[in-house]
Amino acid sequence: MYQANIHHPDEHVELYTSERQHHIMIENLTESTKYYYKCVVLIESHLGDTKMSKGTNDEDDDESQERAFEQRYLRRMSLPTHFSEDESVLKTFTTASKPLPFSRAKFAILGDLGVAPWQPHSKNTLAQLSNHLIDLNYVIIAGDITYANGNHKKWDDFFDALPSGMMETPLYVVAGNHDAEGDHDTGEIFTAFENRFRMPHIAPTIKDKAKEKHDFDLNLMYQLPYDYGNSYYAFQYGPSYNIALNAFADFEPGSLQYQWLETELNTVNRDISPWLVVIVHCPMYNTFSFHKTDPQPVNLKLYLEPLFVEYRVNVVLSGHLHGYSRSHPIAFEQKKDSGPIHFVLGNGGRTINAPFQNQVKEDWVAVRDHTTYGFGIIEYLNATTAKYEWIHSGFNAPEETEFQDIPANFTDLMYIQNQWYL
Ligand SMILES: [Fe+2]
Repeated sequence: MYQANIHHPDEHVELYTSERQHHIMIENLTESTKYYYKCVVLIESHLGDTKMSKGTNDEDDDESQERAFEQRYLRRMSLPTHFSEDESVLKTFTTASKPLPFSRAKFAILGDLGVAPWQPHSKNTLAQLSNHLIDLNYVIIAGDITYANGNHKKWDDFFDALPSGMMETPLYVVAGNHDAEGDHDTGEIFTAFENRFRMPHIAPTIKDKAKEKHDFDLNLMYQLPYDYGNSYYAFQYGPSYNIALNAFADFEPGSLQYQWLETELNTVNRDISPWLVVIVHCPMYNTFSFHKTDPQPVNLKLYLEPLFVEYRVNVVLSGHLHGYSRSHPIAFEQKKDSGPIHFVLGNGGRTINAPFQNQVKEDWVAVRDHTTYGFGIIEYLNATTAKYEWIHSGFNAPEETEFQDIPANFTDLMYIQNQWYL
């Protein structure tokens, strides 16, 4: 059950407990298998306690008596009011396929979502996403998930606002600056992000309190004390190896995150996982005018780009800027066929503008747009080719359109030839 501290204006602190969210660990599942589940709430019942007392002289029957006692003691309760009728019906989920180089997989990637009324365009993006869920193996949100900004009730609203199809679709999340939600009184950071989700933990969470209030200023919130847990992790799916990073925790050489990343990159077997993907909230290639000199993107480029180029990462998926851009394969500012392709997809719930830095796009930019919102879909067709498509969910052009060079029904479709084999 999710819990967090809430601070009221009168400085009173109370423990917030979500009645909606629970974690259930199911082990020993088989890959590529469809499982069925249903939400049922059980309550303790004392009806017939005397009859159910376990006193018996038949020791051989102890086990069945125990089972009968438990079955009768727990009784079904009607679902709480926040459960919709849809949630009480039989649902399914399908486990990940065994890592295989020639298997197929398809996922959606979106960023900076937020839920109405904070990010009204999110509703359209989520509606559009729901039309695609039946074909998707999983969804990734590249950070800035809810913009709840410390209001833990709004995190409940976020989960309620997700399309019902998300109850049957795995979700991976990456830490954004708005997910840090630093509490200026207690120094607690990433409380909701760490407790709401269960990413594939590589080690128990190490999360300290932020030391200074100014740690929560965007330009300074760098090297926040948050390692392992949901902070950074990796997962395999079909032909892909996916590495989720935290741009707000330390990733400099020698740090826990850097050492872990280096080991991961060293041990990925591209014969099994030919596609290597990195997801990190802040982009190191940025055609927009905001966030160019923040410490996160500057240091990502300085410390991590050499690793991404050396190990031939295929794509780097980011958000943060509320616009869209796709780079050419690139290494150290120069177009290079074997370099990673960098995506900015921070316009999932667009609302605020992301003006371009330069009227003429930079050489490394293949496509860019600041008039629409939506999400991307990547489909691995085989070990060598992946299909990428930008799904346009709505139009939100800024008033000044002098830099506008993209039509209102903008989309982007391309095939990625696996750089590993070049
Ligand atoms: Fe952000």
